[in-house]
Amino acid sequence: MSRQNLTTDLHSILNSFLDLIGCDGGSIYTLEKNLQGDDVLVFKAMITRSLGVEAVPTHLRSLVFRLDENSTVGRTGLNREVYNDSVILSQPAADGTVPRQRPRSAIDIAMGYETRNMLSAPLLTPRGDLVGVIQLVNKIPENMETEAVFGEKDERLCGIVSSQAALVIENSMLLLEQENILDGFVNACVTAIEARDPVTSGHSQRVCDLTLNLASAVNREQSGPLGLIHFSETQFRELRYAAMLHDIGKISVKEHILQKEKKLYPWELKEIEMRFKLMKSAYRLEFQGEENRLELGRRLRELELAYQTILKANEPTVLPQEVSQNILELTKMQVQIDEGEVCCALHAHESQRLCIPRGSLSPEERIEIEKHVSFTYEILKMVPWSRGLEQVPTIAHRHHEKLDRTGYPPKVGAEDIPIQSRMLTIADIYDALTAKDRPYKAAFPLDKALEIL
Ligand SMILES: [Fe+2]
Ligand SMILES: [Fe+2]
Repeated sequence: MSRQNLTTDLHSILNSFLDLIGCDGGSIYTLEKNLQGDDVLVFKAMITRSLGVEAVPTHLRSLVFRLDENSTVGRTGLNREVYNDSVILSQPAADGTVPRQRPRSAIDIAMGYETRNMLSAPLLTPRGDLVGVIQLVNKIPENMETEAVFGEKDERLCGIVSSQAALVIENSMLLLEQENILDGFVNACVTAIEARDPVTSGHSQRVCDLTLNLASAVNREQSGPLGLIHFSETQFRELRYAAMLHDIGKISVKEHILQKEKKLYPWELKEIEMRFKLMKSAYRLEFQGEENRLELGRRLRELELAYQTILKANEPTVLPQEVSQNILELTKMQVQIDEGEVCCALHAHESQRLCIPRGSLSPEERIEIEKHVSFTYEILKMVPWSRGLEQVPTIAHRHHEKLDRTGYPPKVGAEDIPIQSRMLTIADIYDALTAKDRPYKAAFPLDKALEIL
């Protein structure tokens, strides 16, 4: 269901009324709330067969009517009564004037049309709830009459079918409301995920836009394997939700891992820095006096060099072989700070972390991050997706899989990766490559990103 479906429903309801009652045109106004929360009737459907009009013209789409006595639409909605404004205009009026002129409405003027007679009826559900107003205009003469008006029979007929029409409209609007609620909830979830990791803020929306653009491109393709694929409107919705929520599982990943920029956490580096200060102080105590000045200088320079090596290794870029060798050497560097107590430049677990060959994550942290895909699946599986949206969890679940089974999890192959997940994966990688807001890496230019893809 979508806004488009509601428009289609209203159009076919209006067409049925025109056929049933036998008139040239009609309009439907649906009951909605304006920004102030007041009930208003919004111009939603229009057909004028003699003019070939099949929808509300763009310049009339903003028309809304309050439920008051100032318009026939408003009056019909306010009093919930049928108004039959039908007189034979070509017959003499009470004062004998022929023909009578009927004041033209703003809509008539805008459309270059003349409403000669009108039947205005409230659209009430069997429970008595107002969902809108229908107006039928210009009864088509039967037989050889030159002019016809809406009669009692038309009013009765209109009353009978309007409650059925009201039910259909209410149903469509409820589905649309449900869709709006789901959209709002999805956006709220994305805001919650991205609030935990400001660095990747906007990622879900960008990936969603790119994925939907790819799906539109597939729909435009006429030839080749993609020419056989066509995504329906519901499949677009399904894809939109999967793309917006593909990383929702990150909600379960610990924040410090999610936001990790360098190999060591800031507090770990701080601890090393403190140890180096301590070692320098120990040397200054040990090598006091003019005769030790040169040796003290050499030792302090050695410590400074070691610390700079640590800072260099801490960066998440590809680690040069010689730096990793130097880091391993630093685990042997010790300074005696007190009798029997020694201070190590680097502990084994720190050097292990600093020797991560590429990126900032240790193998354990990488596994933890990769778990977000399983969590995404588990979370999305809990949602009772409505008909046509059942694949949202699976599409999102496959967004880190690769055709050759080297992705994760559960490492499925090409045959188990739906095309929707493939488009999502392409968009996800493209955004990660081109994102300008990651402090740990520069954004690749477009051509380089496409080359990598
Ligand atoms: Fe992901
Ligand atoms: Fe992602």
